[in-house]
Amino acid sequence: MTVHFIGAGPGAADLITLRGRDLLAASPVCLYAGSLVPQALLAHCPPGARIVNTAPLSLDDIVAEMVAAHARGDDVARLHSGDLSIWSAMGEQLRALRAQGVPYTVTPGVPAFSAAAAALGAELTLPGSSQSVVLTRTSGRASSMPAGEDLANFAATGAVLAIHLSVHVAQQVQDTLLPHYGPDCPAAIVWRASWDDEQVVRTRVADLAATAQTNTLQRSALILVGPTLAQEGFGFSRLYADDYDRRYRPRGDEPRFPHSVPSGEPSDA
Ligand SMILES: C[S@@+](CC[C@H](N)C(=O)[O-])C[C@H]1O[C@@H](n2cnc3c(N)ncnc32)[C@H](O)[C@@H]1O
Repeated sequence: MTVHFIGAGPGAADLITLRGRDLLAASPVCLYAGSLVPQALLAHCPPGARIVNTAPLSLDDIVAEMVAAHARGDDVARLHSGDLSIWSAMGEQLRALRAQGVPYTVTPGVPAFSAAAAALGAELTLPGSSQSVVLTRTSGRASSMPAGEDLANFAATGAVLAIHLSVHVAQQVQDTLLPHYGPDCPAAIVWRASWDDEQVVRTRVADLAATAQTNTLQRSALILVGPTLAQEGFGFSRLYADDYDRRYRPRGDEPRFPHSVPSGEPSDA
């Protein structure tokens, strides 16, 4: 028996991985975080599955469900929104399972920031513009920010910021970012990326707070800020430049890049 942690994706029911879907279909128990996981995914559960919305449960309740399934010999599919590596509360569940000797696996999912970038049709890293994306948030009731991780510190880098859990404090975000990015730096707010009622508003740093107020969908929004959101004024990647010598398209005499490459040979260039 195993607890399978599965990234459910950002909202659209077809943005789960095939592996996640198959694990869901093979598990007689499904625990899902009801506030953000799309109900449509539950259609993949096998007939008669025990399906539990964990939104009203405590950590102890959730672990008790897993341990009880373990005692019965039942696999569990544990669904969390987006990917599991950020703000999923998976860490504390894994720690509890390790303490109890319950085996688990982790299957990644599409994170909200990827879905938001897709909704914007944007590559967030562009040559000569930004080459880093910071996934961050502001302090909330449940979690404060560790020292050194405040928004102003990240803003000082000029990187693209994907600011989670913060649309309700958009004015504070705007005030913090203004001195670093300037009023005209491109920004966007994406509400419920990939859901049927997705809303995308392109804006600029000086108008972030006003933009946030225009929308009635107050939850599940991501603020994106950074020069690459303009999708213009950037250079070309060397990777596809015609004269760029690389393993899979040798152009010169570089001995590491022979003119015939055995198929399947791994390459980083
Ligand atoms: C608890 S975090 C979950 C993050 C998730 N694990 C991920 O991989 O993206 C919830 C926050 O993620 C963002 N978020 C989650 N789903 C979203 C979506 N479909 N569209 C926009 N933002 C979303 C919002 O900022 C929301 O407040």
